[in-house]
Amino acid sequence: MSSLLKIENLHVNVGETEILKGVNLEMNQGEIHALMGPNGSGKSTLAYALVGHPKYEITQGSISIDGTNLADLNPTERARLGLFLAFQYPVTIPGVKVADFLRHAMTNIRNPDRKEGEELMPMREFRTELRETMKELNIDAEFARRYLNDGFSGGEKKRMEILQLALLKPKFAILDETDSGLDSDAVRVVSEGLAKLSGDHMGVLIITHHERLLEYNIPQYTHVMLAGRIVETGNASLAHELHESGYAGVRERHPDAAAEEEAAQQEETAATV
Ligand SMILES: Nc1ncnc2c1ncn2[C@@H]1O[C@H](COP(=O)(O)OP(=O)(O)OP(=O)(O)O)[C@@H](O)[C@H]1O
Ligand SMILES: [Mg+2]
Repeated sequence: MSSLLKIENLHVNVGETEILKGVNLEMNQGEIHALMGPNGSGKSTLAYALVGHPKYEITQGSISIDGTNLADLNPTERARLGLFLAFQYPVTIPGVKVADFLRHAMTNIRNPDRKEGEELMPMREFRTELRETMKELNIDAEFARRYLNDGFSGGEKKRMEILQLALLKPKFAILDETDSGLDSDAVRVVSEGLAKLSGDHMGVLIITHHERLLEYNIPQYTHVMLAGRIVETGNASLAHELHESGYAGVRERHPDAAAEEEAAQQEETAATV
């Protein structure tokens, strides 16, 4: 059975400020959705709320996978249900080697009943899979021995996110600007890699400001976020149109949201002055 990720009337606060103001989105396994929108419109906030970042508080509405409400699940439990986020700004963890991190993550996803301290997946099986996947994604094998993201270039960090995606094989993957900061060869490798990985068994939400990733991974749906709401949904041609002409047209078509966007920006400026 194909799984369904359902976001209904989602309101999310960061501290006192409401950032998401009623987001609705449904994604089936096997579908590719693009999420676009100007800086600060709430795209990363949606991504964080989906995976359960503690700073992002759901005040109304719900997120569910096949009817299971995610509200009371922590990020690990959500990952076990098949959710994965490739971060816009991946964190560095000095002292934790890439290989150890990945072996733990893979074991925890594949063996949900494992208790802390119990055995990890067999080393030989892990090594083989890791080596083959790194080769496919054009990542130097030496990276497996380094500390996670420590001293990695921007592009190397993004490729590390795709490596995790390839190994964890989630049902729903959210890619938050995985294509930004990559040189054009790396964008191609990541785009082709994603195209190979996605398919009937994976739903992908691609958050992007660029077009390359979407050329290799054509979205069935393109959503436009403005001031914390999805104000328009179209197909791949909407993504193309936004790349060509920017968000002026969207703001014109949705004057109320545009006014909210402006008010929020003024508030932010007032707070920093
Ligand atoms: N942890 C946080 N603390 C304070 N403000 C936050 C936090 N997270 C998000 N915000 C605010 O929420 C708004 C939406 O931010 P978000 O990062 O979701 O935008 P975005 O659409 O991903 O933008 P970009 O295209 O620049 O990545 C911004 O005004 C941002 O400052
Ligand atoms: Mg963002």
